[in-house]
Amino acid sequence: MTSRIALITGANKGIGFETARLLGGEGMTVLIGARSADLGEKAAATLSTEGIDARFVHLDVTDSDLVEAAAKQIEADHGRLDVLVNNAGISPAEGMGAPSATSVRAMREAYETNVFGVIAVTNAMLPLLRRSPAGRIVNVGSELGSLAVIGDPSSPSFQINSLAYPSSKTALNAVTVAYAKELAGTPIKVNSANPGYCATDLNAHSGFRTPVQGATEVFLLATLDDGGPTGAFQGGAEEPGQPVPW
Ligand SMILES: NC(=O)c1ccc[n+]([C@@H]2O[C@H](COP(=O)([O-])OP(=O)(O)OC[C@H]3O[C@@H](n4cnc5c(N)ncnc54)[C@H](OP(=O)(O)O)[C@@H]3O)[C@@H](O)[C@H]2O)c1
Repeated sequence: MTSRIALITGANKGIGFETARLLGGEGMTVLIGARSADLGEKAAATLSTEGIDARFVHLDVTDSDLVEAAAKQIEADHGRLDVLVNNAGISPAEGMGAPSATSVRAMREAYETNVFGVIAVTNAMLPLLRRSPAGRIVNVGSELGSLAVIGDPSSPSFQINSLAYPSSKTALNAVTVAYAKELAGTPIKVNSANPGYCATDLNAHSGFRTPVQGATEVFLLATLDDGGPTGAFQGGAEEPGQPVPW
């Protein structure tokens, strides 16, 4: 049997890189989506030295030409896609202040990557995922996107009240639910993973979890068997795979 094909966006570092490593370790061919050819090639080369079939795919999720070209390349090389991990994400520095001090520019910047980029990549890859016997889409969300969590005064996340990043992840959760509903009745499952607060460049390495712990949450949803959930949101707790309230 040919190996399963997984595309991970933003896979040159952080949680995306560790997700590629975990999926590759299971024998999947991992396509390292990266906007920097240099960093993407290096990440693929590193995983190749570990015996993983890793290949760089040039992909800036905000660039529609590159998204279309990536889909064409994957079709030509593999004919289908089994797993799509929408991992690429940003937290614009300009969007970290109080809501009333947040510019629309910062909002647009966050949404371009964290929301519109996910929709663009998903729509481009869906024809290939439909050719898989068990397609899996994992959107890498955040508990900061959970209205139940950020609205709960007893949650540590209640203290964080910026607008750009958290609301983009709330919108991403809505995207997950909408695609899960559209694709219900097909073999494709669509879920949101919460990696938890992991030490990566995104937060200047202030997270208390490792990128591997975060990637493990993504891995679980990317490798769900046919009986697994769709339209779910899970991760971030000590025990992997725990549900997160919306
Ligand atoms: N770390 C956490 O605590 C945490 C918690 C919850 C959710 N998350 C989510 O986890 C995901 C991965 O974040 P991380 O913590 O691993 O951060 P990271 O180390 O900063 O990695 C982010 C990745 O996304 C890529 N990226 C950004 N914009 C892109 C674009 N337009 N096109 C393609 N790739 C792009 C980056 O590429 P470059 O190297 O070129 O910048 C990088 O590879 C994000 O969606 C983030 O929101 C993280």
